[in-house]
Amino acid sequence: MRPRFSLLSSPVRFKALFGSSPLPRSRLGAPGLALSGSRSVVGSGPAVLELVSGQVEVREEFISEEEERELLGELEPVLKRKRYEFDHWDNAIHGYRETERSHWSERNSETLQRVRDVAFPPGTPQLGPVHVLDVDKGGYIKPHVDSVKFCGSTIAGLSLLSPSVMRLVSEQNQSDWVDLLLLRRSLYILRGAARYLFTHQVLKEGDSYFGGVEVPRGRRISVICRSLPSTA
Ligand code: OGA
Ligand code: MN
Repeated sequence: MRPRFSLLSSPVRFKALFGSSPLPRSRLGAPGLALSGSRSVVGSGPAVLELVSGQVEVREEFISEEEERELLGELEPVLKRKRYEFDHWDNAIHGYRETERSHWSERNSETLQRVRDVAFPPGTPQLGPVHVLDVDKGGYIKPHVDSVKFCGSTIAGLSLLSPSVMRLVSEQNQSDWVDLLLLRRSLYILRGAARYLFTHQVLKEGDSYFGGVEVPRGRRISVICRSLPSTA
C-alpha cells in the first residue's frame, strides 16, 4: 500500500475537506495579530495564537539556495514526467503533481535529516518516504486535516521556488484562523492542536495575502516529512 494514495484519498481527509465552508471574503487581507517572536505567523486574535503557540513554527531561510538547488535537481526530472492534475472532484489539491521518495542523494539526505532533527524529538517514528508536492502557479490546497490513520502528530514541510500563505482554520470556530507566511526555503512545522484541531490550506493566487499584503504565488514545491500515528 502506498502511503501517498492513502494520505490523499482517506475518508478522514475528505470529511475534513468537504465539511469546511469557504472563507468569508472579509477575511482576505485581514492584517491579524502577530505571534510574539515570529514575523511569519499572524492570527485572528490572542486566544487562537495562545492555542497554537509552540505548535506552529516557521523558520525562514532554513535551507540555503544551494540546498534548494540540490533538492530541485533531484526532484525536477521525476516531477517533469508527470502531468498536473486539475478538476478532480475528490481531490484536496487542485493543480498539482506529486511523488514520494525514500532514497535521496547524500547531500539531500543531510538536508532532510536537518528537517527531521528540528521537527521530531529523537526516536519519533516517522513515515519513511518523503512526500513531494508540486503545485502549479494556478493551483492550491483546499482546507483539510491530514488523515489521522496515516499521519501522526507532526507535519514538517520545506517550501521551494515560491512564497505562499498557509492558513489554519479552527474546526470548532471558523472565525479563528492563523496564517503562516511560507517564504521560499522556509520550513514550517505543525504539531498537536495545530495539526488536529485546525484545517490547513495553501491559498490560491488572488486570495494569497499575509497580514494584508499580497504574497504573489508561483509554482511551489513542498517537501514534507511526517511522523507516524501511534499504533496503540
Ligand atoms: C498535504 C499538505 C502542504 C504543503 O499534502 O497534505 O497539506 O506544504 N501539504 O504542501
Ligand atoms: Mn495536509
